[in-house]
Amino acid sequence: MLDHLKEEGQVVLVVNDTYMDIDVMCDAIVQSSINAKEIRRCTFGPKDKGDFATIQLELETNGPENIAIGDEIYEQIEDADVLFIHFCPVSEKLLEKAKHLKLIMTNRGGVEHVNVPAASKRNIPVVNCIRNAEAVCEFAIGLMIDLSRDISLANRSLHEGGWQREFYNTSFQRTLSNSKVGLIGLGNVGCLLARKLLALGVEVLAYDAFTDEEMLKKKRISEVKLCKDVDDLLKEADFVSLHLRLVKETENWFDMDKIRKMKKTAYLLNTARGGILDYDDLRIALKEGIIAGAALDVFDHEPPVEDDPLKQMDNVIMTSHLGGTTLDSFGLSPYLAAKDVTAIIEEDVTERIVNLKQITI
Ligand SMILES: NC(=O)c1ccc[n+]([C@@H]2O[C@H](COP(=O)([O-])OP(=O)(O)OC[C@H]3O[C@@H](n4cnc5c(N)ncnc54)[C@H](O)[C@@H]3O)[C@@H](O)[C@H]2O)c1
Repeated sequence: MLDHLKEEGQVVLVVNDTYMDIDVMCDAIVQSSINAKEIRRCTFGPKDKGDFATIQLELETNGPENIAIGDEIYEQIEDADVLFIHFCPVSEKLLEKAKHLKLIMTNRGGVEHVNVPAASKRNIPVVNCIRNAEAVCEFAIGLMIDLSRDISLANRSLHEGGWQREFYNTSFQRTLSNSKVGLIGLGNVGCLLARKLLALGVEVLAYDAFTDEEMLKKKRISEVKLCKDVDDLLKEADFVSLHLRLVKETENWFDMDKIRKMKKTAYLLNTARGGILDYDDLRIALKEGIIAGAALDVFDHEPPVEDDPLKQMDNVIMTSHLGGTTLDSFGLSPYLAAKDVTAIIEEDVTERIVNLKQITI
């Protein structure tokens, strides 16, 4: 499949950004089955990571259409056969210029930055890359254990000269393997996390608006108890872990109404996106003891404002959006993307073509 990319003379446009090394992206193309005669290099977006985060949020919420990119990218794409991006927005306007384009590849899982319908209209495959689901899962399990066993709190106490053995949750503390974990969202991260938790002997409940028992079987997680209604999960789970994408429908979706349905002794984890959880409601819930605690890797504002009350709460673990950022999963992800494209070209593996059903190859 996509055999023509093996033919000599492909022009590849690589667009990096402040988070992704251009040399690694170009080297990944060299190592793939794409027969590139020329690899062009452009860069998208501001260098400053704070400014970039603002653009990233806009892209994830509203898509690529209103984000400005440099003129150079418009010029370089005109006769390019392949576009390899990290976060660079691919709008309809950019695609109008791309008369030769045969493949868009991104070394991210989300494709909110690509106008996929516009690419499909032009019969261009869009290939994504599952780069850090493993990393996020391991991180989430770490947070669950930390929350329930007070590792961070005990560590802080010792560093400050103390020897604390009683914590806010001592009266209802339990082992993870004796707990029920409720996963909201069973996509790449949710499914993998379910598999890992089941292997640890944990009872796993899940809610996903677009999943059924058949899918659980395919993903080898049929022991997961699928809840038809999110409320059923909320009233049973000792840990509720969010793994949805941020889209219009999920914005502030997890609010006080849902928090109130959780057990008073339950913990909430958010390693997905700040925008899907109503943080004002969460602040009230944690202060008033409506739930036991929370672990948060993502926030409504990143970084959180200096006087965010969450910072003063013992029952909150906060990390700085670290869930997916190991070197193997993030920094070297261009090689994973290149491997996925090679698998399409050499072995007809179609799993990573996000618009497979909308195009003819
Ligand atoms: N903390 C980090 O560093 C980090 C790293 C990677 C990914 N993430 C985030 O983790 C989250 C999960 O990523 P993923 O790759 O598993 O996403 P995914 O798209 O594979 O999965 C999302 C799941 O949510 C389900 N869903 C969508 N709308 C829903 C709704 N209204 N109700 C119930 N279910 C719904 C979908 O069916 C899908 O199964 C994303 O928000 C992603 O941005 C965070």
